[in-house]
Amino acid sequence: MALDNLIDGRAIADQIHEETRGHISALKEKSGPPGLAFVRVGEDPASRVYVAMKEKACNRLGAHSQTHILKEDTTEKELLKLIGELNAAPSVHGILVQAPLPEQINEATVFASVSPNKDVDGFHPLNVGKLLLGDSDGFSPCTPAGIHELLIRSNIQISGAEVVILGRGNIVGKPMTAILCQKQDSANATVSLCHSRTRNLKEHCLRANILIAAMGVPEFVKADMVKPGAVVIDVGVNRIADPTSKNGHRLVGDVDFSAVQPIAGKITPNPGGVGPMTIAMLLRNTVRAAIKATGQDLNTLN
Ligand code: GUN
Repeated sequence: MALDNLIDGRAIADQIHEETRGHISALKEKSGPPGLAFVRVGEDPASRVYVAMKEKACNRLGAHSQTHILKEDTTEKELLKLIGELNAAPSVHGILVQAPLPEQINEATVFASVSPNKDVDGFHPLNVGKLLLGDSDGFSPCTPAGIHELLIRSNIQISGAEVVILGRGNIVGKPMTAILCQKQDSANATVSLCHSRTRNLKEHCLRANILIAAMGVPEFVKADMVKPGAVVIDVGVNRIADPTSKNGHRLVGDVDFSAVQPIAGKITPNPGGVGPMTIAMLLRNTVRAAIKATGQDLNTLN
């Protein structure tokens, strides 16, 4: 019998898109459509797919988008020049520089060069600081913000929960910790941030009411690492070799889904869990950026 413990990220993302569509229509009447600029450097296959999906969502909801594709050997100086132009362009409210960037470019320097008011990725140090301080005026990174929204809209008890996050990256693990530890009814979790040097990892995982896997290791989370009834969120997108597939590979998450699903209280499918939420939060952040540009209070959106 099919288990019905899936958290449907596509359906929840669609709800958020409908809310965003309303905000975009209102903005169009008042001050013009929100505009989002994408910057991709090189031809990383995953980045091509992600940027194309984000562009499509923009167009579907009626936001303006423009995409700048730079060559793999672009210098940091050239990229910073483009970001400076986008920072100054009044029709551009949000800027997204897709990571990873080629090795000659320092990611931290690039993220810090995006205007904090256009930083729809939430990667600028000012927005990272605001997130940690619990200042809702900044931008939260899209993937952890999307996971938070998934948990809230799935009526999962976060306050007082033991949350274990696997992976301490700047895009997911660290900001996820900052979101869930805030003193707020929708947070208030006890968060453990585990990583490659964590001792007794399995014992940490077995304590979790909510287990978030974001370390980028294919099917790492096995059934014996999950407490029965726990909520399991799989952030991983890993390409593994598969000679039986047409293109020689397939995508798997950080969770061994078929083994873990019967034990989990709720679990995100992959695809169809976290991914659509990342895009929904990007569009929401873009609307927030456009509202910010008009000088209105962002809390009118929340
Ligand atoms: N690469 C993987 N995730 C992300 C993201 O959320 N934003 C950007 N800019 N790059 C990414």
